[in-house]
Amino acid sequence: MLRGLVATLSLATAALAYDRVCTVVPLGRGQDDGPAINSAFKECSENAAIVLDGYYSVNTLLLNEGLKHVDIILSGTVQYTPDIAYWSPNSLYLSYQNTTTFWFISGDDIHLYGGGTIDGNGQVWYDYFNLTGESGTAGSSTLTFARPVTLTIGNSSNVIVENITQWMAPNWNNLAYQSTNVTYRNLYINSFSYSNAPAKNTDGFNTYRSSYVTITDSIINNDDDCVTLKPNSTNINISNLWCNGSHGISVGSLGQYAGVTDIVANVYVKNITMRYAENGARIKTFGGSPDPNSTSGGGLGYVTNITYEDFYNYDVDEPIVINQCYFTNTTQCEEYPSKMTISDVHYINVTGTSSGAYGDVVVNLVCSEECEDITATGTSLTAPDGQATYICDNVASVGELDFNCTSQSN
Ligand SMILES: *[C@@H]1O[C@H](CO)[C@@H](O)[C@H](O)[C@H]1NC(C)=O
Ligand SMILES: *[C@@H]1O[C@H](CO)[C@@H](O)[C@H](O)[C@H]1NC(C)=O
Ligand SMILES: *[C@@H]1O[C@H](CO)[C@@H](O)[C@H](O)[C@H]1NC(C)=O
Ligand SMILES: *[C@@H]1O[C@H](CO)[C@@H](O)[C@H](O)[C@H]1NC(C)=O
Ligand SMILES: *[C@@H]1O[C@H](CO)[C@@H](O)[C@H](O)[C@H]1NC(C)=O
Ligand SMILES: *[C@@H]1O[C@H](CO)[C@@H](O)[C@H](O)[C@H]1NC(C)=O
Ligand SMILES: *[C@@H]1O[C@H](CO)[C@@H](O)[C@H](O)[C@H]1NC(C)=O
Ligand SMILES: *[C@@H]1O[C@H](CO)[C@@H](O)[C@H](O)[C@H]1NC(C)=O
Ligand SMILES: *[C@@H]1O[C@H](CO)[C@@H](O)[C@H](O)[C@H]1NC(C)=O
Ligand SMILES: *[C@@H]1O[C@H](CO)[C@@H](O)[C@H](O)[C@H]1NC(C)=O
Ligand SMILES: *[C@@H]1O[C@H](CO)[C@@H](O)[C@H](O)[C@H]1NC(C)=O
Ligand SMILES: *[C@@H]1O[C@H](CO)[C@@H](O)[C@H](O)[C@H]1NC(C)=O
Repeated sequence: MLRGLVATLSLATAALAYDRVCTVVPLGRGQDDGPAINSAFKECSENAAIVLDGYYSVNTLLLNEGLKHVDIILSGTVQYTPDIAYWSPNSLYLSYQNTTTFWFISGDDIHLYGGGTIDGNGQVWYDYFNLTGESGTAGSSTLTFARPVTLTIGNSSNVIVENITQWMAPNWNNLAYQSTNVTYRNLYINSFSYSNAPAKNTDGFNTYRSSYVTITDSIINNDDDCVTLKPNSTNINISNLWCNGSHGISVGSLGQYAGVTDIVANVYVKNITMRYAENGARIKTFGGSPDPNSTSGGGLGYVTNITYEDFYNYDVDEPIVINQCYFTNTTQCEEYPSKMTISDVHYINVTGTSSGAYGDVVVNLVCSEECEDITATGTSLTAPDGQATYICDNVASVGELDFNCTSQSN
């Protein structure tokens, strides 16, 4: 029956490029199109195109693995149902922060494009989360209430995602998970709430255990990190983003799990407009922990070779920040400082204005172990009153900063 819903066409023109083309015909009237989409991906998993040109209501996990040279032409809309009771247990749990996802796409040489929309139907999730506040550490899911990630490119290589709109995600919009060579470009991300419940944790882009990821030419309206590089993200290129209302371009959070090594290295961030945000260029690690089984600090590892260039801030609470006590209270962080080291971080032409949320503070670099080779050139940042205060603690290379530091304790 499901096969009948998937029209397999052998278009004369398409046949030149693909062995098969699967066009998914929507059932309409709110019926679940998930099974038909999944069977299209099974039928058209190699040298094929999958055409999603209608309006699809999805109430089934989309788990599409083993793809090889597949174009996914999304010119229509994939909308997930706001069925919390279904999705919490049935979305796909991943191996980090209890994260789950609605759609896991996996394989080699995949191109997702087409001008269409992925609609997370987030309002119900925002309102429910606002009432219960049920989350794990640092906004992650629990095992009983999961807010799924809208789109995960997982266990994949050589993927391009472009020309897609993402609407009202219940949680992160994008996750590159255990993947290499993934490009996101020309995405329009809009996660906002119609009620007074905030659109929490709606990160634009996340990377985890991934390398050679490019994120470019996109517009992001949201209520958490614009981009965030989670544990083991290397060779990441981020450019030409317009971020509104976010928590910044973040490295981390890292060091969350006791005894686990987290690495973020070789990151270039260039030409970012950051408006009405909590942070601009941010690096965040949890502090240490006395608990050898801690899931809230105590991790190891390092952050190195990170450049932020041409980074324009407008009304940003902390335009430049390194925080090694993320989600860790002061007492514990003093007694058990972060074991993660930070080095080779360069700020080039970071400009604009802070919001004044921290008075005149525009730069806040507080390292637990000494940070090495942190440099800044072309810095031009002011608080609303025209003043600027730059806090640096445990930074070895203060001579390489083009501003005069004061210590946090002064
Ligand atoms: C994952 O969920 C469990 C159970 O709901 C919770 O105890 C745990 O803290 C969560 N993990 C994280 C890292 O938040
Ligand atoms: C991703 O790859 C890991 C490691 O190979 C494997 O354990 C896991 O099942 C894969 N996940 C999915 C959803 O395919
Ligand atoms: C990365 O993936 C894209 C899209 O499949 C491909 O065109 C490109 O050659 C790949 N780059 C490398 C270095 O493999
Ligand atoms: C993506 O959109 C851009 C700008 O509209 C267009 O030039 C490009 O051809 C599109 N890419 C694909 C693969 O459709
Ligand atoms: C969100 O929570 C606040 C504080 O508890 C409450 O006043 C408000 O009514 C809630 N909003 C919604 C849409 O539930
Ligand atoms: C910088 O990024 C903006 C988007 O925020 C884009 O419009 C502009 O063209 C980019 N500039 C360059 C030189 O690429
Ligand atoms: C990160 O990579 C290092 C070095 O390969 C490895 O030891 C560590 O387990 C990885 N951490 C995670 C979270 O995958
Ligand atoms: C530092 O990172 C940049 C950007 O990813 C990369 O091009 C460069 O090779 C890296 N430098 C070193 C010494 O690895
Ligand atoms: C840590 O977890 C291990 C394995 O679950 C357990 O045997 C040990 O008692 C735990 N240690 C502490 C301090 O909770
Ligand atoms: C700080 O956190 C630790 C561990 O979670 C807790 O035991 C302690 O009570 C907290 N201290 C304060 C002042 O909140
Ligand atoms: C920084 O900005 C200045 C003034 O706009 C410009 O002259 C310089 O080339 C820029 N430097 C870099 C490295 O982009
Ligand atoms: C830093 O302070 C020194 C001594 O007060 C002063 O000469 C210098 O101009 C200041 N540098 C900047 C960038 O404000």
